Amino acid sequence: MFTPLTADDLMLRPGLLAGERILVTGGGSGIGRMIASGCAALGAHVIICGRREHVLAEAAEAINDAVTASSSPGGMVSTIACDIRSEDSINAMLDAIWTHGALSGLVNNAAGNFISRTEDLSLKGFEAITNIVFKGTFMVTLGCGKRWLAQGASASVVSITARNAQNGGPFTAPSSMAKAGIENMSQTLAVEWGNRGIRFNTVSPGPFPTEGAHARLLPGRSASSEAEAGKSKVNPMGRVGQPAEMANLVAFLLAPGSGFVSGQSIAIDGAGHQAVAAPLWDQSKDWDDDQWRAVREGIRATDSKDKTAR
Ligand code: HXC
Repeated sequence: MFTPLTADDLMLRPGLLAGERILVTGGGSGIGRMIASGCAALGAHVIICGRREHVLAEAAEAINDAVTASSSPGGMVSTIACDIRSEDSINAMLDAIWTHGALSGLVNNAAGNFISRTEDLSLKGFEAITNIVFKGTFMVTLGCGKRWLAQGASASVVSITARNAQNGGPFTAPSSMAKAGIENMSQTLAVEWGNRGIRFNTVSPGPFPTEGAHARLLPGRSASSEAEAGKSKVNPMGRVGQPAEMANLVAFLLAPGSGFVSGQSIAIDGAGHQAVAAPLWDQSKDWDDDQWRAVREGIRATDSKDKTAR
């Protein structure tokens, strides 16, 4: 588990998000916790929701302690239990939040996923994932959206997706299909609600080691040891992402100063998705000078042979 962030860890100015009220779904763990921590460090009142109250409480305590100990003016984190698969649970949460004022930001982060051959999935297994990632994310967004539109309030929505939304996700079909739907929701509503001051952007993370994802997608690999080592053999930058980098990007998109940025999809993956599309990179990335020389000589020899045959 990463150490909660303070304003000193971030590139944005302290107090940037003062006065903002931001809901982070699934904010008690993983990437949601990184975002909640960063936004609170920058002065926001962050509300984290999730299914497990003890996880939320532990995250809020750790983040609030770090904010209090920091010399920068920070915000705070509060918690509310909610299962975003249930419309009733969402409405109860949003009613409770709005009692104290409108949200100015929503981070659709809550997700569920597991690796499985698609032919092994039952409909219930498919729905276990899509009811969180697709339907649940839509229901939270719609619940907030209706309230914002009724009040004429402006807001920024950031949805955490994945590159599988564009490229397909073998062995994670329900997640991949659901994330593609959320990319489309974001683009659709960026236009439909744009003239009412509501912005929509998506962020697709590359390797940010978290326990929840590792346990279900990369069994046998420890998220904490990868996070500690900070290295990745398959990423172009040779490393994994840092919590502060994730927080910086999402806080930027939530902040009023990015008010003309909407309908965008931003990968934060050290160019990982371009590398996937470039097999020559994977083949050649570790060659040394001698290997490059030998390759060049081999190619030139082929050229000469071809030329003599012309
Ligand atoms: C096959 C499985 C399964 C598995 C559950 N099911 N796990 N099938 N392989 N590993 C099936 C069950 O058999 C059952 O269907 C159905 O799913 C419902 O099972 P439940 O255990 O009741 O589901 P539930 O308690 O609702 O759990 C939801 C969950 C769980 C999604 C399955 O993993 C969860 O709560 N995850 C939340 C955290 C998480 O996943 N974090 C990682 C996100 S990573 P049957 O028909 O048998 O009854 C991420 C990255 C995206 O999102 C990008 C990746 C490339």
